[in-house]
Amino acid sequence: MAQAKVRVTWLGHSTFLFDTPGGKRVVIDPFLENNPACPTAFKSLERADLVLVTHGHYDHVAEAERIAKASGALVIGIFEVCHWLGQRGVEKTSGMNKGGSQTAEGIRVTMTHALHSAGFINPDGSITYLGEPAGYVIEFENGYRIYHAGDTGIFGDMALIGELYAPQTALLPIGDHFTMGPREAAKACELLKVPQVVPMHFGTFPVLTGTPAALRALVEPKGVRVLELKPGETVEIGDGEQ
Ligand code: NI
Ligand code: MN
Repeated sequence: MAQAKVRVTWLGHSTFLFDTPGGKRVVIDPFLENNPACPTAFKSLERADLVLVTHGHYDHVAEAERIAKASGALVIGIFEVCHWLGQRGVEKTSGMNKGGSQTAEGIRVTMTHALHSAGFINPDGSITYLGEPAGYVIEFENGYRIYHAGDTGIFGDMALIGELYAPQTALLPIGDHFTMGPREAAKACELLKVPQVVPMHFGTFPVLTGTPAALRALVEPKGVRVLELKPGETVEIGDGEQ
């Protein structure tokens, strides 16, 4: 019997595990071994059915290759990220691009815009550009929709994401410096019209100074719930209330 809700585990930074109502495991932006916020128990994670990558920066794509090879999971990313992973020996990829959707493992994935950059620094210091950064709206088997914004600044077309896909929970970066800070993320909640936000991409490194408390002070008076997770913590969401 499939569980009705989505089990969401935050592993610090922008890395989340979703254990879906249909019994699948989705990993997004796997950054484990060198992620100071990732609990030790998850650093060698291998099992996944689907790996999503928002963009080619190391702190988002770090373990995509290893997990895909260990688990045989399908990797979804922008076309160039998937091509690059394919050249590194990842067998199952399904590259896509912004504005499109696809269904994989019973899960509907829509790739959205993100305002950021996407170069991978090679060991020799050269940069391989891996297309553009993106975000995802993920619709699970029970119809619940989560928006993972990736790394992004705020952009006005978040209103279109809200209008077209109506995510019930948004995972938004708040760390500032490389992405939105709390002030911009609060405005993003307004554009998206989301009832609940999970802050991410903060605190991993000293430069990521935005805090959930700052976000909470801005959005809770407007009725938006801030679901603050601890790295390694699992919550169940998706009953229509949250
Ligand atoms: Ni980035
Ligand atoms: Mn990042």
